[in-house]
Amino acid sequence: MANKSVIKNVNEHVGESVVIGCWVNNKRSSGKIQFLQLRDGTGYIQGVVVKSEVSEEVWNDAKSLTQESSLYVTGIIREEPRSNSGFEMTVTGIEIYHLTENYPITPKEHGVDFLMDHRHLWLRSVKQRAVLVIRAEIIRAIQQYFDTNGFTLVDPPILTPTSAEGTTNLFHTKYFEEDAYLTQSGQLYMEAAAMALGRVYSFGPTFRAEKSKTRRHLIEFWMIEPEMAFTDHEESLQVQEEFISYIVQSVLTNCRAELEAVGRDTSKLELIKAPFPRITYDDAIKFLNEKGFEIAWGEDFGAPHETAIAEENDTPVFITHYPASFKAFYMKPHPDRPEVVLCADMIAPEGYGEIIGGSQRIDDPALLEERFKEHNLSMDSYKWYMDLRTYGSVPHSGFGLGLERTVAWICGLDHVRETIPFPRTLYRLYP
Ligand code: 4AD
Ligand code: MG
Repeated sequence: MANKSVIKNVNEHVGESVVIGCWVNNKRSSGKIQFLQLRDGTGYIQGVVVKSEVSEEVWNDAKSLTQESSLYVTGIIREEPRSNSGFEMTVTGIEIYHLTENYPITPKEHGVDFLMDHRHLWLRSVKQRAVLVIRAEIIRAIQQYFDTNGFTLVDPPILTPTSAEGTTNLFHTKYFEEDAYLTQSGQLYMEAAAMALGRVYSFGPTFRAEKSKTRRHLIEFWMIEPEMAFTDHEESLQVQEEFISYIVQSVLTNCRAELEAVGRDTSKLELIKAPFPRITYDDAIKFLNEKGFEIAWGEDFGAPHETAIAEENDTPVFITHYPASFKAFYMKPHPDRPEVVLCADMIAPEGYGEIIGGSQRIDDPALLEERFKEHNLSMDSYKWYMDLRTYGSVPHSGFGLGLERTVAWICGLDHVRETIPFPRTLYRLYP
């Protein structure tokens, strides 16, 4: 009996007979030989069926196989320097499990809407699989970075009574008799956790009912939110640049084949090493005006502005010290210039836009109370958050990394919809 194997491990079975559960990715024939392009999720291998060497039954079974049919294939593993994986299988047996008819996604071109309607099947394609493998590696690297740098993983709630990032894009739901909202950010809870554990991070889904249909916006996305007690704005930037460099270098080390499958120019990723340049909001406005953009101090940046600033560098860039007027209520003002706050957005290179938003937080209870009033937020709902300033307040900072935008950048994808298995976008809740 042949040993069961997976394609990823065939290198351990050269010269042996193995059986692999797999699907047919593609197939071609030259009359006396059939070439089966097989995939099992762990990798790809070509199965070679030679008419003169197999029974008529095996030959005919091979002939009947269609794209995405499932089977157990048995054969001898051989080294094959001309193949991508370096190995090939000489097929000796085929046990068809299910013959597929009329698989909708053929090797020809399909439109994005069609592919998104068939997302559950599209995931089987070489490129989409590679994206998911890279996403998993990014998640692994994120957790490894924090777990080995003194951070404790803490899970904030998903159903919340208040907003964390402004009230305009909240998903409303009922919590029995009360109103509730799906979390936009776990930050406020992570601040509480930082006062208990020092350095913490969260990793979870967040929701924004944003009516923006851009290539960077999802309705449901995953965010990583570290929060650090006794840490100022500048120290937080150092953590951020080290963290991002670590993720990129991990993907380069562990996902070479997948980066190739998505067609990524890896020379651009090789350049991602800390430290990253910083530019103040003031200087960014001057720079943009010199470039011909009509934007005045006090206005927020859009995608074209971010791209113009990012184009000047090979690494991500920090834009720091934005006006308090359009930033979140909790950001700490600059000690000498209260009209700007101790915050930074990290802008990815190559036009991928903001991947991190972060800041030092207000730690003075009186100022925080003032901000609640300015932002028309009810003090009652945030009483617990005020307590963090009433009892042992400390300087603290944190940030949020958007997972999907990070995956889009590292994979070099045009749109965040391909970075998550089942995207939730403005007009899509299916499949
Ligand atoms: O800049 P944001 O809104 O910051 C916060 O939520 C802070 N509370 C984070 C913190 O300090 N703990 O969001 C953080 C990041 C953005 O930089 C972006 O990468 C991503 O989350 N993001 C989105 N990604 C996809 N679709 C959306 N609609 C996103 N909105 C934000
Ligand atoms: Mg932001």
